[in-house]
Amino acid sequence: MTNRQEMATTKKKASFTGSLGFVLAAAGSAVGLGNIWRFPYLAAKHGGGLFIIVYIILALTFGFALLTTDIAIGRKTGKSALQAYGDLSKKWNFLGALSFIVPAIILTYYSVVGGWIIKFATDYIVKDTSAIAVDGYFGSFITSNVSPIVFTFIFLALTAIIVFFGVDKGIEKFSKFVMPGLIFLIIGISIFSLTLSHTDASGVTRNGLDGLTRYFIPDFSKVTVQSFFQLLLDATGQLFYSLSVAMGIMITYGSYVKKDVNLSKSVSQIEIFDTAVAILSGLMIVPTVFIFSGEAGLQNSGAGLMFNALPKVFEAMGPIGKYIGILFFIMVLFAALTSSVSIMETIVASCMGFFKSSRKKTSLIIAAIFAAASIVICLGYNIWYFEFTLPNGSVGQLLDIMDYLSNSILMPIISLLTCVLIGWLLKPQTIIEEIEIGGVKFKKKGLYTVIIKFVAPVMLALILAQALGLTNFLFK
Ligand code: PHE
Repeated sequence: MTNRQEMATTKKKASFTGSLGFVLAAAGSAVGLGNIWRFPYLAAKHGGGLFIIVYIILALTFGFALLTTDIAIGRKTGKSALQAYGDLSKKWNFLGALSFIVPAIILTYYSVVGGWIIKFATDYIVKDTSAIAVDGYFGSFITSNVSPIVFTFIFLALTAIIVFFGVDKGIEKFSKFVMPGLIFLIIGISIFSLTLSHTDASGVTRNGLDGLTRYFIPDFSKVTVQSFFQLLLDATGQLFYSLSVAMGIMITYGSYVKKDVNLSKSVSQIEIFDTAVAILSGLMIVPTVFIFSGEAGLQNSGAGLMFNALPKVFEAMGPIGKYIGILFFIMVLFAALTSSVSIMETIVASCMGFFKSSRKKTSLIIAAIFAAASIVICLGYNIWYFEFTLPNGSVGQLLDIMDYLSNSILMPIISLLTCVLIGWLLKPQTIIEEIEIGGVKFKKKGLYTVIIKFVAPVMLALILAQALGLTNFLFK
């Protein structure tokens, strides 16, 4: 390429305006439903404190290495996932294609869940808390014919508008406005939740301190070798999903980062943001559910925790519950939107690179395709309902199968292959050099090398084995 051509392409290349914009956009992708309902549920399942400690240790080691790798690959190649791996090594082009499939699968169902959140946010504005807390309320909504599809479309449209406006005027602007607001809301609601106390029908009173104890203090009497192994796998899987690694997203965002940004520092900031929101979300949800619904409420996992257990909590709070409900679901909506924006952006950027098409046209076409695909997922709770037992033993329908395919199978495979490519074929130095551009000191490069070559591949192989049901015998 001649100098002039090079200048023209650099000029055209979209980018974040600076380090803050990048960190908030990447944190926006990382902070999502995984932090808000999955982390609290897993922490509660594993008895609190111990899970949190293990999670933090893993974030500083395993998470740090994977996130650094993705972002550095993006900045080094300046390409989105579909093209980036091929740029590093021609023979590894297939890995780009593989990692393109993941966001494409995820967007089909993430927008459906986003639709549910908009539905609940508007319900809290217009309805009584008792109407939303009725048994079966959530179930009858998601199995209805039209309304889940309409709400999904609204969520997709909001996502598409932000992507349509581009990297700096759309994504960065939106994240800079939403992320500080999100932190503010989470801190506010968690402090409020610790001031609550409730006496249930059997006369037992629980207050904020009981809730806090339940969340933070580990109960070692219940820990066995098997349960610890399960905890380790759950924490690793959670971290991996929570940081949005192994799906091309951080590669794409990394490609928008200017060479003068200190990547090592940015990675730490993104991780701190993501982990702090996860722990604070637990602080907001676990004690509250425990105060109002005891241990039984905490056993409600995943979607059940957010859409069944929490509405009961908001109802029990009395008149203020309505407002807390509104704030809570608006906050979750913010978190989900910045994540879905990153998913759609990854797909759009890859297609723009592949078809050489404009951003505006590509975003509209992709939005239309995913609107059609998400109808199928919505109908998976309706006329296309079927149950399927997954290899890891859990029973799911269409949405769960998509989630399983992308998160439990494809993501560990992609990440494992990335470790082989970077750790063994191209060597960790490829990434280290990118981090050290401009004289930046990469303090943890020794740790990085050990993790990317040895630790991460072993952990990833274990998660994959568990997803395929190969570790089931350990838990008999
Ligand atoms: N990392 C997000 C979370 O923790 C989830 C996510 C998944 C975001 C896929 C983007 C893409 O919820």
